[in-house]
Amino acid sequence: MARPQFHTLTVKEVRRETDAATSVAFAVPDDLTETYRFTQGQYLTLRTKVDGQDLRRPYSVCVAPDAGELRVCVKKMPGGRFSGFVNDRLKAGDSLEVMPPMGRFHAPLNGSEGKNYLFIAAGSGITPVISNIATILAAEPASLITLIYGNRRQRDIIFQGALADLKDRYLDRLCIFHVLSDEAASAELLSGLLDEAKIAELAARLVDIDHLDWAFICGPGPVMDGGKLALVAAGLAEERIKIESFGDRPFASAVATPSRSPIDAQAAEVEIILRGMHSKIPVPFSGAAILDMAQSAGIDVPFSCKGGVCCTCKAKLLEGEVEMDVVYGLEPDEIAAGYILTCQSHPKTDKLVVDYDG
Ligand SMILES: Cc1cc2nc3c(=O)[nH]c(=O)nc-3n(C[C@H](O)[C@H](O)[C@H](O)COP(=O)(O)OP(=O)(O)OC[C@H]3O[C@@H](n4cnc5c(N)ncnc54)[C@H](O)[C@@H]3O)c2cc1C
Ligand code: FES
Repeated sequence: MARPQFHTLTVKEVRRETDAATSVAFAVPDDLTETYRFTQGQYLTLRTKVDGQDLRRPYSVCVAPDAGELRVCVKKMPGGRFSGFVNDRLKAGDSLEVMPPMGRFHAPLNGSEGKNYLFIAAGSGITPVISNIATILAAEPASLITLIYGNRRQRDIIFQGALADLKDRYLDRLCIFHVLSDEAASAELLSGLLDEAKIAELAARLVDIDHLDWAFICGPGPVMDGGKLALVAAGLAEERIKIESFGDRPFASAVATPSRSPIDAQAAEVEIILRGMHSKIPVPFSGAAILDMAQSAGIDVPFSCKGGVCCTCKAKLLEGEVEMDVVYGLEPDEIAAGYILTCQSHPKTDKLVVDYDG
């Protein structure tokens, strides 16, 4: 497996979507067209220096693969370093380092089947969702989609115009329900926060769960957790639910500063295989993770969120055992096949072989 690497791309357009959300389109040179070809719902890791800090963050592509552009949308978080930079300072003509698309927030397409989809999004969670919706509507002419989209106020709704255009175009196949928490909505059912109880109520009244093929959820923790609980309780099989987590804590900077030195602590010997190169590094049994120690040793290991969410740091464990803090991003079959998230992994045995190419 070839490991994706950053390329420097020029920002083609910076477009204000709402007061607090900005979309960014990149110019992709002809020789990188294949590298940046994406599947609906995938994300790009962006990297730049913000006030001297080397930061990288994942952002979902917000258009369909056939849209003819590569565009992400970034919502400004209060005090957020990267999102603040994009919303307040980035302009057309600037350059950013961009990793090729990654991620699995999509289901297989089949133009000859008519399927039923439910999408639940809140806030910036709409970005990978609109990419999926636009793709499915075009590629599966008999499929039906219901979108439940939660925001605080009407003016916070990202892609309000683009969603209305999709609705106009696919009038009979797309139903959109905007749920507002801080403003009166068009009906009592559509007022309030998208938590487990609200999603259970909406699903019962608006969706035929028994005939649902796929549900996709992207939003803050309570939307993801509550949505899954509500849909499973309503009878949807867990494996029919796809969840994209944006993480719920501040991401680390790209500069590795492991909290404990392996020299002071007991350490395992970890062999890292990356792009065919083998390096041996010490990694303590507790404290810094394998990824942190590899970075400290100057190895250019891939990562993005450092929160166990995005899987950019995934590698195959060829020898030894690890303990992972969290494994949000890995599927059970990947864990069974020996894959680990190196940003979350600590050695349990004296010797490990970790293959980023595997
Ligand atoms: C797969 C994936 C896809 C994503 N796609 C998108 C997308 O399409 N659009 C989008 O907008 N986002 C997306 N995200 C989230 C995005 O990557 C960033 O996490 C987000 O933009 C915040 O980054 P930041 O640098 O602005 O905030 P950070 O500086 O990392 O801070 C994050 C938040 O934590 C708070 N904070 C900072 N430091 C502390 C502290 N010490 N203690 C407590 N709180 C603190 C900040 O105020 C801020 O609200 C995605 C994430 C993942 C994993
Ligand atoms: S860097 Fe995102 S899961 Fe490890």
